[in-house]
Amino acid sequence: MLSTCFIHLKTQPLWIIILSLLGFLSIVKNTIFLLKWIFIKIFRKPKNLKNYGSWALITGSTDGIGKAFAFQLAKKGLNLILVSRNLSKLKNVSSEIRAKYPNTLTKIFGIEFSGPNISARIIEMKEDIKGLDVGVLINNVGVTYPSAMFFHEVDEEIWMNLVRVNVGGTSLITRGIIEEMVARKKGAIVNIGSGASIVVPSHPLYAIYAATKAYIDQLSRCLYVEYKHYGIDVQCQVPLYVSTKMASTVAFVEKPSIFIPSAGKYVESAIESIGYEARCTPYWGHSIQWWFASLLPSAVLDAWRLSTGIHRRVA
Ligand SMILES: NC(=O)c1ccc[n+]([C@@H]2O[C@H](COP(=O)([O-])OP(=O)(O)OC[C@H]3O[C@@H](n4cnc5c(N)ncnc54)[C@H](OP(=O)(O)O)[C@@H]3O)[C@@H](O)[C@H]2O)c1
Repeated sequence: MLSTCFIHLKTQPLWIIILSLLGFLSIVKNTIFLLKWIFIKIFRKPKNLKNYGSWALITGSTDGIGKAFAFQLAKKGLNLILVSRNLSKLKNVSSEIRAKYPNTLTKIFGIEFSGPNISARIIEMKEDIKGLDVGVLINNVGVTYPSAMFFHEVDEEIWMNLVRVNVGGTSLITRGIIEEMVARKKGAIVNIGSGASIVVPSHPLYAIYAATKAYIDQLSRCLYVEYKHYGIDVQCQVPLYVSTKMASTVAFVEKPSIFIPSAGKYVESAIESIGYEARCTPYWGHSIQWWFASLLPSAVLDAWRLSTGIHRRVA
């Protein structure tokens, strides 16, 4: 049948031959993409995270995605260093984890990432965790605006906090932990990015948030290349909406749904992706949304995001 098609095609004008070839290549490309996606989501085995080291450090671990990571990494047998800003919430999360997973060792460390002395606190933290083989680092801490705002309306304090937490927090914690990983020649670093800077071409009315997440994406890619030969797997995970406190504030998400997973559901997929691609969107429902978005022209996505932002601003 293929040969009949080929013979028939040879009798056609050149422009039909070129168009057919492009169509054929596009089908091949999409088929490979789909098969790879099915393999990753269904058949690929998650890495044994204990091979990276017996401790995991998670920032922003008292709520949402970070808290879910803490529980599920404990379930995988890792000991935990929980880092967040609120000591009493940290103690509660630590006790809840130890009640559920009695063999898990936990350490807590308070850092206010929007505060003035992050570097000094990280040096103290390094002293505190000296000798522990931290194999997995989850750079999850992140903040956004209290509501949709035009760039000129964003208070400088909010803006600077965003940069301190999202950019400074992730970079400084990574620098604090990666040296030991280099010495041990193994480690996995997961940086939580966002669809706001990757899946859509713009995220109007949340411009600074999206820009900080673009930084995370590029930092991750560069570190992925820099540290691969040291046995360190750096990855940027790109979630779309996940039903957490942050999503309820910015997008009025009230409860999980098939395309907006709970933090627990998101993290189930997130953990299975650790150590593989430089950039991924682990939850299957998010990758379907990303694929649909990739079919639309940028101008359409820009207009949609702008009208959503304006609607949220007045809602
Ligand atoms: N949820 C989504 O739809 C979504 C989508 C894409 C990307 N993300 C990204 O995913 C990550 C986690 O988001 P989430 O939805 O789980 O957020 P969340 O529910 O608001 O939890 C954020 C965590 O970070 C901690 N935190 C916030 N500000 C801090 C600070 N200044 N210093 C230290 N700790 C601080 C919070 O502590 P407290 O418990 O004290 O508040 C909490 O533990 C973020 O990087 C976010 O940008 C989320």
